[in-house]
Amino acid sequence: MNHFHLIDGVLHAENVPLADIADAVGTPVYVYSRATFERHAQVFRAALSGLDNPHLAFAVKSNPNLAVLKILARQGYGADVVSGGEMDRALAAGMAAEDIVFSGVGKTAEEMTRALKVGIGQFNIESEEEGVELAALAAALGLTAQAVLRINPDVDAGTHGKISTGKADNKFGVGIDRAPGIYARLSTLPHLHMRGVALHIGSQLTSLEPLETAFQKVGILLQELRGAGHEVTHVDLGGGLGVRYRDGDNPPEPAAYGAMVARVTKDWGVRLMFEPGRVIAGNAGVLLTRVIRVKPGAGKAPFVIVDAAMNDLARPALYDAWHDFEAVVPNGQKMMANIVGPVCETGDTFAMGRNIDPVAPNDLAIFRTAGAYGATMASTYNSRGLVPEVLVDGEKFAVVAERIAPATILAAEHVPDWLK
Ligand code: LLP
Repeated sequence: MNHFHLIDGVLHAENVPLADIADAVGTPVYVYSRATFERHAQVFRAALSGLDNPHLAFAVKSNPNLAVLKILARQGYGADVVSGGEMDRALAAGMAAEDIVFSGVGKTAEEMTRALKVGIGQFNIESEEEGVELAALAAALGLTAQAVLRINPDVDAGTHGKISTGKADNKFGVGIDRAPGIYARLSTLPHLHMRGVALHIGSQLTSLEPLETAFQKVGILLQELRGAGHEVTHVDLGGGLGVRYRDGDNPPEPAAYGAMVARVTKDWGVRLMFEPGRVIAGNAGVLLTRVIRVKPGAGKAPFVIVDAAMNDLARPALYDAWHDFEAVVPNGQKMMANIVGPVCETGDTFAMGRNIDPVAPNDLAIFRTAGAYGATMASTYNSRGLVPEVLVDGEKFAVVAERIAPATILAAEHVPDWLK
């Protein structure tokens, strides 16, 4: 459920007509609903109510906007971060350092040192080499790093190849068969406190099966680790729950996920941790765009050229992802169209041969389910600006990320004297 809905035939975000936002901020613009973020945060938490004090860490990569992180912080969420930049954002939003989990396959020494100094709650180590380096950095600071070992369970998550992370040939984690040996070696290092394992097998998962298979493998690993005398108090089950992008999508409900987790982990005796991103943020945002022009296509479907492009919302170009397209003032009819952006690349196509609300030049429309992996993946390709973000709360709205104009980006570039 979300709060982007028709009121008197006009699309609103909560109680704000989307046209008001377009008038005030221009297009394209991402629009978020505070009530939707809060609802999703609460639904996910409620789904895990059968567990003993789970730790919830919002996957910052899905939507790192500072105001969004503030909403999640106020909902009692910590953060899952994958870079020093994300860590700084989580801290700036008021999340406690100890509620932050640092994941990522290529943490630099500089990032790990900073994270140690601020007292980050947990490092999710992705290799033996990283663990050894982290221990040395902690020793140099006279600190102890709390850590878990990310394992790669070699499970096919059944999602798009580019967002699958738990197959043996993916770069993430250590092979589960090698995990006991690596865990044993890392456990001997002073200044490194190994306290459990982590996994994350992929994103936009539409079935619980691969998750359950992976969790079962973790259960067996836990027994093995404990059998070898190791302490295991924490298991981070990652994120990955899919959301509905289009009619017919049928992702598992959070409650079903929670019930599965409770069943599979009931004898584990650990504190469980979670890193949800898309399930919280996906349907809490839309990309508001204006039609520039409509031109005939080779077939029957015309090209609807909108002012949003692949640089603003990269998912269709990158993963052939579907985002529903709806007119802000639909008239109940339908037309067949190809929806494209202005970027000079055929990949800048949001939809081909799609049945959409009829739109004409200057009409406003939205791409739905753009709250996760939307603005954060924007670029300035074709020397376009960086798309702004707006947060709606009931009757009011605020710009929570400014549009960065092409001129601002140009001003940061320099021609050296010897080229003048
Ligand atoms: N934890 C880890 C270690 C991750 O790698 C990810 C996502 C998450 C948590 C959050 O997963 P979620 O709950 O959002 O599925 N740009 C792609 C998605 C990449 C996801 C990468 N990892 C997209 O637009 O679909």
